[in-house]
Order: sequence, then C-alpha cells, then structure tokens
Amino acid sequence: MARRMDGARPGRAGVEAAVARIEAARSLDGPSRAIENALLARPAQIAGRPARHVQDALHGSWLGHPLHPALVTIPIGTWTFALGLDLLDALGVLRARSAARAADGALKAGAAGAIAAAAAGLADWQYTDGRDRRVGLVHAAANGTALALTLGSIRLRAAGRRGEGRLASALGWACMAFGGYLGGHLVYRRRVGVDHADRSPEPREFIPVMPISALQEDRPRRVEVWDPQAQQQVGVALVLHRGRVHALGARCSHMGGPLDQGWVLEGRLVCPWHGSRFDLRTGCPAQGPSTAPQPRYAVRLRDGVVELRREQEPGDEVVTPGDLAQMAPAPPAGPPAQAARKADEVLTEHHMLLRRLFERIQALPREDPARRDLLRALASELEIHESIEDHIFYPAVRAVSEDVPVAHAEHRQLSDLLAATLKLNTATPAFEEHLRALHAAVNHHAGSEERSMFAHAQRLGEARLRALGEALERSLEEQRSSRASRAFRALKISLLEGV
Ligand code: FES
Ligand SMILES: [Fe+2]
Ligand SMILES: [Fe+2]
Repeated sequence: MARRMDGARPGRAGVEAAVARIEAARSLDGPSRAIENALLARPAQIAGRPARHVQDALHGSWLGHPLHPALVTIPIGTWTFALGLDLLDALGVLRARSAARAADGALKAGAAGAIAAAAAGLADWQYTDGRDRRVGLVHAAANGTALALTLGSIRLRAAGRRGEGRLASALGWACMAFGGYLGGHLVYRRRVGVDHADRSPEPREFIPVMPISALQEDRPRRVEVWDPQAQQQVGVALVLHRGRVHALGARCSHMGGPLDQGWVLEGRLVCPWHGSRFDLRTGCPAQGPSTAPQPRYAVRLRDGVVELRREQEPGDEVVTPGDLAQMAPAPPAGPPAQAARKADEVLTEHHMLLRRLFERIQALPREDPARRDLLRALASELEIHESIEDHIFYPAVRAVSEDVPVAHAEHRQLSDLLAATLKLNTATPAFEEHLRALHAAVNHHAGSEERSMFAHAQRLGEARLRALGEALERSLEEQRSSRASRAFRALKISLLEGV
C-alpha cells in the first residue's frame, strides 16, 4: 500500500480525519447533555439508591473492571457468526435449515447482549466530557443502529423474507464494526475506562509527611512524595476519620480527579469530579463510576508525625529496602567461587566482545564477503549472551533489581533487529543502516545493564556474584563448544537469513 511522506497510510489518514471531525463537533454537546439529563441523570436522581445500585452494577465496580467491554463481546461474536453462516448460505456452500436456524438464534442472543452492553455503555458514557463524550455519542448511535437493523432482520427472517433479513443484519454488522472502531479509539487512544491512578511504588519505606495536628476530622489533605525514577511528585490524600489516619493515592483511578479536594461521606472518600466513593481502608470503589481501587499507603505515627509507606501491589517488580534486609545470607564462599570472576565482570567482558565485532564489521569494505561471516559470528554471540542472561543472570538479579522486565523487552528488540539485519545484503546501504541501528541498540542495552543492573547486582554479595559468574562462564563455554548447540544456532541463523 502506498505511503505518504509522513509515513501515514491514506486509509488510516482518512479514518483519523473522520474521527477528528467527530471529536471537534461541538454541535453534539447540546443533544448529549439533553440525553444525559432526560435518560440518565434525572431518572436516577428520582429513583435514588436503587438506581445507584443498578448503575454500579453496570459500571462493573463490583467486578474491578468495566463491564461494557466484556458485554460487547456477545454481539460481536454472535453477529459475526451469523454473518458467516449467511455468507456460506448465500454462496451455496451451506444450505441446511439448521444453519439458518443457528444464524437466527445467534442474532437473537447477540441482540440481548447488545442491549445489556448499551446499558453499561450509557452508564459509563454519562461521566465522559468534551471530545470523548462526542465520540461516545456517535459510537452509541452506530451501535444503536446496528441493534435496530438486527432486530429488523430478526423480524424479516421470521416473516420468511430471509434475503432482506440477511441484508439488514449485514448492514447491522457493518454499523457494529464502525461503532467498535470508535469504542477502541475511546479506550486505546483516549484512555477512557482505563486506570488513571498514579501507581508509583514510592515511598518504599516509611517517611514523615505531616504533623497529625495539621489534620482535621474528615477533611482530606494532600501531601506529595518524590518518585526519583519517574522524576515527579506523587500526590497522596490523607484523611483523619474516627481517630485513624488513612492514605490513598490522590489521583482518582476513574479519570484522574483530585481526591484530596473531595470530601468524606458515609465513611468514604468521594471524588469531586464524578462522585466515585472509595473505602478509606481498602481503597476499593464502594460506588462507581470508578472500577479500580486507589493505591494504598500504610500509615504510622511517630512523635506526632504521620509517616507513610506505599503498600506494594502483587506482581509489581519493586525492590524495597525491607526486601533487601530480608534476603537470605549469601552462601559460604567455597574454593571454586573464590577463583571465579563475578557475574557482572563476565557479562561486561562479553559486551566488549560484541562491541568489537560491530567495529570489525563496520571497518570492512562493503563488498568484502567476510562481512557476512563476521555478522554470523556476531549473531551467534548475541544469541549466547541473551541466553545466559535470560536463564542464569536475570532470574538471580530479579530479587535486587527492578530492571529485569525492561531488559527482557530490550532483548526482544535486539533479536528483532538482528533478524531484519541478517536478511539484508551486506553490501547495501540498507544493511549499513540496520547495522548502525543494531549497534546503537546493543550499546544502549549493554550500557544500561552496566550502569544500573550490574550496580544493583552488587547487593547479592560477592560470593553469590562469583558463583553466578562461574555458572555464566560454564554456560558460555558449553554453548560455544557443544556441536549440537552450534548446529542449532547455525540453522537458526540460516533460517533468519532466508537461505
Ligand atoms: S475522576 Fe471520575 S470519579 Fe474521580
Ligand atoms: Fe541483556
Ligand atoms: Fe548483557
């Protein structure tokens, strides 16, 4: 497909322009407020608490995730299934009556799912604003049209007008696809429905933030802690409630509203923007539209001063001073470990070898066939390097360094770039460009390991580092000398070269 100078495909540019027009259509604001008031806000205010419970059920606050995206899978799946059966029928591939009945049933099940999804979507939509609200309105209109066409199709089919019924449901499917595109835009581009809370791991240990005398019962106060990695202040809302100090992330998980500017009602912290209510102890939303819990902080009092520590979330790669203090003592240093080099020394030396291989390839004339041999040697060493890090070094260093997930991601980058470079003719400018990019990627990755991860690794203690170094050298040697692994690497490189 042709590309424009700015890299955008023409089709994509057209769709983006159409979405941008919807986002800028201020004329939609009046009708959308009218719909919100007439259909949602006023009826809910009149009905009171029961309506609140229904809305919370529709938001998915009970589930911990928005309900709408789960429900839309019902019409998407069933209507697509029906479209497939109709197509096979129209092409004469599948003419069974049972297939026609299955298509009709799928349309009905999808319509029921679409009604539930529309209710959940409307419940969420009323708490959007500006361009998100406008796109949401058109998304709802497209899906509403899809539902109307599908219901019409079900009637036509029941009346024996199958051909017209098929056409109506196919048009409905097209409207659903357009509506789905806009829904995806709202979530993935505009971040509607995703968690907006600040999930910084700071502070990892208790730090003093405010004298307790500065807090008044049920009056939230904001304090800030510094996150050196993100280079930003992180807001925390402190609340003194019934003699206890509670601390939750100040940025609301729904859309980022300032919880420290909210209020306490029925023992819950209320967001001033859309009224989500968070349990002070657990941070969980007791009332939507938010579905995600707020970050929580452990609180203690020392000499009349409130101290905070972030309560880390399960699965996060966070190394706290407490974890380091609890680490098992290093194994006693036996004779082999004493003699071995430390893991970071072994890996740094291997980094230097990789860097030298790049320099040697770049120093050769473009036409020199030795470039290909050196490139294969580089590919082989890079493969070995990643393998020994992935299997020996990273698992060990994980306990003391937060760099491992990014390092894994960068290994993937390196292997993708290497694969693309191996496919190129070494005499071409494209090869030069790719080799430079691969060199830069290896320099970046090795450099960040040397500066950060290897520094963290020192926390493992010298004996452990020497034992790891020994294991790394043994594996290096084995992978280089073993016939089977050499043959396997050569095969892999040939496949990547496309030979
Ligand atoms: S930002 Fe919407 S409820 Fe807080
Ligand atoms: Fe690495
Ligand atoms: Fe490395």
